[in-house]
Amino acid sequence: MSTVLTDEKIPNNVHLSSDRRLQRALEAWQPQFLDWWKEMGPVGFQQKDVYLRTAVSVEANGWAHFDYVKMPDYRWGIFLEPKQEGRVIGFGDYAGQPVWDEVPGELRQMLRRLIVTQGDTEPASVEQQRALGATAPSLYDLRNLFQVNVEEGRHLWAMVYLLHTYFGRDGREEAEELLARRSGDRDRPRILGAFNEPTTHWLSFFMFTMFTDRDGKYQLASLAESGFDPLARSCRFMLTEEAHHMFVGETGVQRVIKRACELMKSGGGDVRAQGGIDLPTIQKYLNLWYTLSLDLFGGEISSNAADAFASGLKGRYKEDRYEEHKVLDQSYPMDVVEGGQVVRKSVAMRTALNEVLRSEYTRDCQRGVDRWNKTLADEGVDFQMKLPSSRFHRHIGIYADHAFTPAGELISKDEWASRRDEWLPSQADEAYVVSLMQPVYEPGKMASWIAPPAKGINALPNEFEYVRM
Ligand SMILES: [Fe+2]
Ligand SMILES: [Fe+2]
Repeated sequence: MSTVLTDEKIPNNVHLSSDRRLQRALEAWQPQFLDWWKEMGPVGFQQKDVYLRTAVSVEANGWAHFDYVKMPDYRWGIFLEPKQEGRVIGFGDYAGQPVWDEVPGELRQMLRRLIVTQGDTEPASVEQQRALGATAPSLYDLRNLFQVNVEEGRHLWAMVYLLHTYFGRDGREEAEELLARRSGDRDRPRILGAFNEPTTHWLSFFMFTMFTDRDGKYQLASLAESGFDPLARSCRFMLTEEAHHMFVGETGVQRVIKRACELMKSGGGDVRAQGGIDLPTIQKYLNLWYTLSLDLFGGEISSNAADAFASGLKGRYKEDRYEEHKVLDQSYPMDVVEGGQVVRKSVAMRTALNEVLRSEYTRDCQRGVDRWNKTLADEGVDFQMKLPSSRFHRHIGIYADHAFTPAGELISKDEWASRRDEWLPSQADEAYVVSLMQPVYEPGKMASWIAPPAKGINALPNEFEYVRM
């Protein structure tokens, strides 16, 4: 099953050529995907040689091939992890029963919604990031942007394969819709909020790949537990690629912080006067993108989450670590707002599973923030980055109708409005950051506001011509 046929029109390890109907359907979708890529993918650079990694197998060693490629020629393929014989459903009401290779009729709608929602995020982020090439701070960063973009394109392929293969006509229609919605469009927006927010500059891009791609990691990890085996196997391989996206985000922000520290110690210490991004501004963008990403996990108390778990479609993060997989009688402590105060309540665990996953996510984000704080300490700068409270600046869930400070204190909406610009990027902050965005396309050179990376891609030096201009 893991043999990959890379010389076919659509590279795949799913024996696509043995199912003519499916192959024809996907080969008919392929030019529509390419049209979308050319219309909504990266602006410019489509005819440039970019040093990209392409997935060519699902083997842990040697799954990636690095070479120059023009983006429209990228070999987007369909890769599922090999089937594990005898795999059983790991959680929910069907725990212990054999996994499904076909969609159980009664779960069809819920499963389709999960796949479409995940699938929609992939082209959305490409659309959000499409203009960034014009202001890349270095060729190294430009290449990383395009790497993330082509892989999000491949993730779309992974979900479209499932829709075409298992959902008949409905699935084919959904696959077309995935190319028809547009990030930020008033009439046909992408499904989830954060995927309609503009990513207007590179600081937002790095925050996005740090925080929003990390939401992707946790959604994929919980779908990788799915009792619907083709979904589980797709998501496992997608996680392999996702790791690089978060690396781009975490190290990107780390380099902006490092540069700010260097400028604080030179030229009188005014970071902005020297063309850097000051630490308080970085903190505001952290607050923005972290909280937008928290919303992606859904409501704190959610019957949808309970249903997806009960039916064996969406598990917990690393379900194996838990001893008990039905969670029928457990409860979860939840801070809710009642009578103008925050009080702790106990809610049924199955309805709290979005919050359980969000907490895992927060811990993972904190580990990244700790590494940023290590950079600050190493630079001898007395400043710490902080994740705001998960109640701050929320638009979904039980805190959405209330106002909280970043420390999590309940305040009036008037106070929130008057203090907003202390906590989130103001128009002036945004204008300042945008004003810094000037392209640097000379190999090895960096923009004024970012430090060079610790090392290059695929053991190549920083001076390597990652995009041939
Ligand atoms: Fe993705
Ligand atoms: Fe990603």
